[in-house]
Amino acid sequence: MNPRMILGAVFLTGALFAGPAIAQAPALTDEAAKQAARNYQQYCALCHGKDREGHVNDHAPSLRSQSLLESDPGTIGEAIGYGRPGTPMGGYLNDVGGPLKRRDIVDLTLWLAETAKVKPLEEDEHYFDRVAGNAADGAKVYQQQCVTCHGANGEGGTGTALSNPAMLALTSDRFLRHAIVNGRQGTPMPAFAGTLSPADIDNVTAFLRSRSTGWKADARELRKPPPLGKYVINPKGKPPDFGELKEGRYLSAAVLDRELKAKRRMILLDTRVTSMWQMAHIEGSVPAPYYANRAEVVSSLPRDGTWIVAYCECPRAAADSVVKWLREEGKFANTAVLYEGIQGWVSLGYPVTAGDASKPAP
Ligand code: HEC
Ligand code: HEC
Repeated sequence: MNPRMILGAVFLTGALFAGPAIAQAPALTDEAAKQAARNYQQYCALCHGKDREGHVNDHAPSLRSQSLLESDPGTIGEAIGYGRPGTPMGGYLNDVGGPLKRRDIVDLTLWLAETAKVKPLEEDEHYFDRVAGNAADGAKVYQQQCVTCHGANGEGGTGTALSNPAMLALTSDRFLRHAIVNGRQGTPMPAFAGTLSPADIDNVTAFLRSRSTGWKADARELRKPPPLGKYVINPKGKPPDFGELKEGRYLSAAVLDRELKAKRRMILLDTRVTSMWQMAHIEGSVPAPYYANRAEVVSSLPRDGTWIVAYCECPRAAADSVVKWLREEGKFANTAVLYEGIQGWVSLGYPVTAGDASKPAP
């Protein structure tokens, strides 16, 4: 099957998920390519790098490696649309609360391949078939060859999180196998074609697959975030006592929790892609994503010295960049970044909440 058709069939018509039925993705026009390039810089460069080289923040993969881009574009589009919940990669599709339309994501996907001058491989009708391998044997291969980079439980590290439920649900066995056989050029991911037998490559693929949980991208009920600037936590409270900030800007989860419990007045900014705020956030936080219009954010925050604490998932890249421009362009002195990020916050046992249920989306 022509890869563009797979992209059309799976991603656009929502064969896996509900969505507008568009038969197939038309070719990228010059105008669409320019817009995709702008979208890339605005939304993706923070972690994947200005030149798509990857590993700029939090081991975001390369988005120009040949073996990724010659894989099914639908799979790449879905990674962008739905993200990899539980990792810093959020969903950018507006269906899940992200900033981009389906068409923008398709264009971005096509643009990535065109810019890297990689042609997606022609796939046949067996593309979504399971690879026949022995998962128990594959577990041994995994222990020997993969844990150092991908983690003992596939939680990720230098390498991608290979037990991530969304990643497993949105990729085919062939997609995984292709990465294992060819590696990812220009990244630490080695090509195993020379070192593992074809049978062991099938086995380790089957092992990865055996951990999938049947994750589904549910149609999410989106919540309307509170308006920026009207969301001061504890408006009648005293200012927080954060003590001295590490490196002039970092605040620990323990201190933030203590000051929230003491009912101190502050603003919490969630600087991740907005779909992640929809999924879970620290109670009272308001979305101010790293790609937001700076002038708008700066003009809507109160200028009365209220402390502003930013956090993200990465664990600091997005929040660092927002606090940098809040200080430089907005002249907000009382600003800080949550050192551990929200993943650290959660793993230390501090609470999070889902989208604000009291305020349904319009
Ligand atoms: C906050 C950091 C961050 C931002 C911003 C971000 N990503 Fe990612 N992205 C990641 C990480 C980390 C992963 C790997 C997640 C994992 O372990 O599964 C990832 C994975 C991916 C993948 C899967 C790649 C593969 O090898 O399977 C694609 C495709 C992708 N991102 C595209 C994008 C695009 C396009 C954008 C902009 C619209 C974007 N990302 C924005 C951090 C980010
Ligand atoms: C030296 C470190 C290293 C080792 C060892 C390693 N990997 Fe990777 N792997 C990576 C990195 C880094 C990436 C992300 C590549 C990128 O930036 O595009 C990756 C990506 C992958 C991907 C693509 C995931 C996705 O979401 O697209 C798969 C599949 C994979 N590795 C499987 C394996 C398996 C199976 C083994 C063991 C047989 C293994 N890797 C060993 C570093 C490693």
